[in-house]
Amino acid sequence: MNYFFIANWKMNFDLKIAQEFCHNLTVNNLSDQRVIIAAPNIYLASLIKGFPKLCFASQDVSTRAESFGAFTGEISSSMLAQIGVSYAIIGHSERRRFFHENDNIVKIKAENCIEHNITPIICIGENHEQREKGDYLKFLKYQLINSLPSRGKDIIIAYEPVWSIGTGQTPELDQIEEVSHYILNLIAENGLLEHKPKLVYGGSVSSKNIKNFIKMPGISGVLVGNSSLNIEEFLKVCKAGE
Ligand code: PGA
Repeated sequence: MNYFFIANWKMNFDLKIAQEFCHNLTVNNLSDQRVIIAAPNIYLASLIKGFPKLCFASQDVSTRAESFGAFTGEISSSMLAQIGVSYAIIGHSERRRFFHENDNIVKIKAENCIEHNITPIICIGENHEQREKGDYLKFLKYQLINSLPSRGKDIIIAYEPVWSIGTGQTPELDQIEEVSHYILNLIAENGLLEHKPKLVYGGSVSSKNIKNFIKMPGISGVLVGNSSLNIEEFLKVCKAGE
């Protein structure tokens, strides 16, 4: 099944636990699933070497387009590509909130990824207030259009309502369908189809609700936070796609 199961580990796990987790994933024969592990950058080289059958993502990338240079603390997309990283989560709401990333920064980062054949997973999502006020579609429209790279293909757009992340609350299925429809139409109307974007949903996905998302038209995968931190739970999520 061509469905993405993206584990966003955030700033969690020590290296040994990360390795055990990846070992468990590989022995569980999820080979026909697109499982992507977004591990902390510092672990990526070791995990990619140890588990060549798995796919890995970084959780961020530098805004600098240069491959190398005097930018203390930065990790370029070229460096990530060199060690075999094939995806990068960009513009997650935690980065937008705690590290003040705006749409323009997200766009630059996505472009840097594309330059080095890393598929950006671009996160967008409204907050609780925007949802309550009813202007979330307008917000999502501008957030998406301003965050998209000017060129590139095979990008992934992650719709993650901020109010759903880590809260156990998920939107009603028709609310997700409304947004996915809207985003896919917007992409077509704006001539952005060359990006061949795929849409994934994120926000409190778990083994209890995964079946709902898998059945949803227009949704090509899930971005999983808390439920990707427990191997049994994450395996249940992934196996629901079999
Ligand atoms: P959650 O996180 O699954 O814990 O809600 C999702 C995310 O932050 O990407």
